[in-house]
Amino acid sequence: MIIDKLTKKYDGKEVVQGVSFEIPKGKVLSLIGPNGAGKSTVMGVISRLIARDGGEVEFEGADISKWKSKELAKRLAILTQSNNIQMKLTVEELVAFGRFPYCGGRLTPEDERIVDQAIRYMELDSFRDRFIDELSGGQRQRAYIAMVIAQDTEYVLLDEPTNNLDIYHATNMMKIVRRLCDELGKTVILVLHEINYAAFYSDYICAFKDGKIAKFGTVQEVMTKETLSRIYDVDFEIMEIEGKPLSIYY
Ligand SMILES: Nc1ncnc2c1ncn2[C@@H]1O[C@H](COP(=O)(O)OP(=O)(O)O)[C@@H](O)[C@H]1O
Ligand SMILES: [Mg+2]
Repeated sequence: MIIDKLTKKYDGKEVVQGVSFEIPKGKVLSLIGPNGAGKSTVMGVISRLIARDGGEVEFEGADISKWKSKELAKRLAILTQSNNIQMKLTVEELVAFGRFPYCGGRLTPEDERIVDQAIRYMELDSFRDRFIDELSGGQRQRAYIAMVIAQDTEYVLLDEPTNNLDIYHATNMMKIVRRLCDELGKTVILVLHEINYAAFYSDYICAFKDGKIAKFGTVQEVMTKETLSRIYDVDFEIMEIEGKPLSIYY
């Protein structure tokens, strides 16, 4: 996927200003940066939930605007930042939504098999008949990921999947995200607040600031004292753990 000179304005103000980057297939890319930097807007434009004002999103050789919604939904899944579905759904019903692009409302035995597999993959078997609003934050987040797995897309976009999770569940969620790539072969684009989650669990980082990309590169390229301190105007120290650069900021 190639993002080229993307722009988006709200009320005359350009909140995304000529953003370009390429998403390598079968890798995990994290978008990091402060609130309001334009990360969710870029995710929205890539998934066509938000209309852009300029630039291109080239997807499988064609601009995303050329795709029929159903075809796009078979290739790209997104969990938005406020992924709350306001319906009284059980885990199984929620996950079945992931099959919607394939079967409409009526699940075939094959769809049911895929839904079942996704529920088991996320270790939600004993929760399948529970209502999603009765689950803990971590369980609910796993149910949403199961829905994404059932959608069976190559691209998975997750906007702050660790939001509202305590550090244990957030770490667990990041391990799941990594498995989506390593075990299921998906290309994952994340928005993360916590730089060290991005550093430890992704392959590439796109550092946003004020609607622009301040730095794009591999984790090793972006996670340097000089780069981070320059972009975010905070003093960073970098140390290595298990061969990965992690930051301390003060
Ligand atoms: N629907 C909207 N209407 C007006 N302004 C918006 C809208 N959505 C986002 N913005 C503004 O666009 C900027 C970027 O927002 P966003 O992409 O959500 O940032 P991030 O995800 O990096 O926190 C912010 O200043 C935000 O207030
Ligand atoms: Mg956001």
